[in-house]
Amino acid sequence: MKKNKVIIGSQWGDEGKGKIVDLLSQEADVIVRFQGGANAGHTLVVGDKKIILHLVPSGILHESKLCLIGNGVVLDPEIFCEEIDELERSGIVVSPQRLKISYKTHLIMPYHKMLDNLRESKKSGSNKIGTTGRGIGPAYEDKVSRVGIRACDVLDEKRLREKIERALAEKNILFKHYFDSKEISSDEILEKIGDSLKKLRPYLADVSTEIYNAMNKGRAILFEGAQGTFLDIDHGTYPYVTSSNTVASNVCAGAGCGIRVIDEILGVVKSYTTRVGGGPFPTELNNETGEYLRSKGGEFGATTGRPRRCGWLDLVVLRESVRLNNITSIVLTKLDVLSGLDSLKICTKYQFNGKEILYPPQIENGLAKVTPIYETMKGWNEDISQIRNFDKLPHAALDYIRFIEDSLDVKVKIISVGPERSQTIFR
Ligand code: IMP
Repeated sequence: MKKNKVIIGSQWGDEGKGKIVDLLSQEADVIVRFQGGANAGHTLVVGDKKIILHLVPSGILHESKLCLIGNGVVLDPEIFCEEIDELERSGIVVSPQRLKISYKTHLIMPYHKMLDNLRESKKSGSNKIGTTGRGIGPAYEDKVSRVGIRACDVLDEKRLREKIERALAEKNILFKHYFDSKEISSDEILEKIGDSLKKLRPYLADVSTEIYNAMNKGRAILFEGAQGTFLDIDHGTYPYVTSSNTVASNVCAGAGCGIRVIDEILGVVKSYTTRVGGGPFPTELNNETGEYLRSKGGEFGATTGRPRRCGWLDLVVLRESVRLNNITSIVLTKLDVLSGLDSLKICTKYQFNGKEILYPPQIENGLAKVTPIYETMKGWNEDISQIRNFDKLPHAALDYIRFIEDSLDVKVKIISVGPERSQTIFR
């Protein structure tokens, strides 16, 4: 029987979900994004081509698949149109039959990006969130404040202008008086993004009904998460988080379907840990090993190009991820990057307030106050990037995987040993 799967990031994003979504899209009929926006960056390597997608589901690379952008996403019309053009330049045909946006999806407007960047530039030191500058937070704020612009608004130009003007009434006071910056008018906005907004029209659809119909026909649905569990607005390292719920349970609200739709929840786990932007990171390595992971793993943001912070695998963080998402199996990525290290450390517990704890403390910024407790394991030297059979992995790599499985009580079902589709071990 075909199964409906959710793929989510179990750490701070950038776990390598793009490749996994791309791989599993082959056996899915429908691929759905349910949260986040163009802050995500999925790097896909197909043959000798590298494609970075921020908004369009990676399933678009497979011709027969239906790709859906749910109501929980915040969509930047300009980036959306750029991606479609880029895909078409690479020979991938994108049509409204294959790609649909929910009428209810909120749009990122130029003033959201302006606000995002002005706010960040006003903050200093550890107060900076280090956002991607893509207007994500301000767009979600407007959604919750009930002044957001939704995709369906592009169908009525008069109403669209009125809504933009209503939103600007407050924003311009902020721009002028708080940020000492330039105001913006609805004319300027429509001049800048009017064409992109028009281009969205044919893609609008009732995504919830599309999913319902696909379910009733027994089609396999793949829900593609963006960012990671520890960037979740509620469950992440608040306030150093993104502005959406990244956990698996948001699939239903963000796509418009009932909770019984989900059969499997795959947690993507990078074999070490990375994070971009500010916020606590207990196992961070500000040393040669961290540098080794960054350069060998190509740890630079797909969206912003920023160097990612790197550190050892953190099982405390992952234990919480397993619980929050109900992860049914683990996809372990970038195991090849660990080759060449004499020994590996895995954080198994934290020391916090004189006690050893297995889960992160729940107080704000609690992760900044813990000391990681490590288990040291043997490393391996072999290049594992050409291995396709689990049992052929070096003993030390097998021990590393089994240690993760035993600690989290979840099976590692897929192991990625390189960026290519073929560099994958299925168990
Ligand atoms: P925002 O989502 O742009 O508001 O950024 C908030 C925080 O989430 C920042 O620390 C970003 O670096 C981080 N972030 C947002 N999207 C991603 C992603 O796709 N991967 C990794 N980190 C992300």
